[in-house]
Amino acid sequence: MTDPKLAQKQAAAAAALRYIEDGMILGVGTGSTVNCLIQLLDGVRLKGAVASSDVTEAQLKALGIEIFDLNAVGELDLYIDGADEINAAGEMIKGGGGALTREKIVAAAAKRFICMVDDSKTVEKLGKFPVAIEVLPQARSYVARELVKLGGDPVYREGFVTDYGNVILDTYDLPLDNVSEMEKTLNNIVGVVENGIFAAQSAKIMLKASANGVETVTF
Ligand code: A5P
Repeated sequence: MTDPKLAQKQAAAAAALRYIEDGMILGVGTGSTVNCLIQLLDGVRLKGAVASSDVTEAQLKALGIEIFDLNAVGELDLYIDGADEINAAGEMIKGGGGALTREKIVAAAAKRFICMVDDSKTVEKLGKFPVAIEVLPQARSYVARELVKLGGDPVYREGFVTDYGNVILDTYDLPLDNVSEMEKTLNNIVGVVENGIFAAQSAKIMLKASANGVETVTF
């Protein structure tokens, strides 16, 4: 029997397909929901893709999809990705897979972010899921102390190195009443490369899959 969560991810991915146009260079996210989308890209005549991680890049290449360097293309029309949490404003927490920095860069370069989720990811308030913070290795202890001062509880993601060679502090309990402010505050800490709050790069469309089908929510 198919796992119902997997079936919902597949349904959200199938709904995302209709936003993809022939000849596009598509920004492609990372994670298990995006994996469902990648499986469907075989029949799409893309010009190519900009990948948000080495894992995604390898999967796209295996399908024969040309990978473009973001520096070699202009603004992208579309970026499609999943999320760990998303609120009613389209603001998200991402980075469970550790690809947050490259995801945010590709999302920033795109006109529209379409977020595919199953209904377990929609929340009233962000923050049950920890905020992944990518940190230069040398700054790890310093940044952790600064995060504690902000009220956070940082946990070093042991044995994990990002595509950029950095480490991740998964940070619980950060006060997230104003997610935009916290996104900026975190990035102001010396040694922080990027954080997993996507408020400035919020989703424009959410495709939310549940047992009842896929709902399209526009922000
Ligand atoms: C990867 O770093 C993450 O931002 C993912 O996009 C996010 O964790 C969603 O992943 P799943 O689709 O696997 O839940």
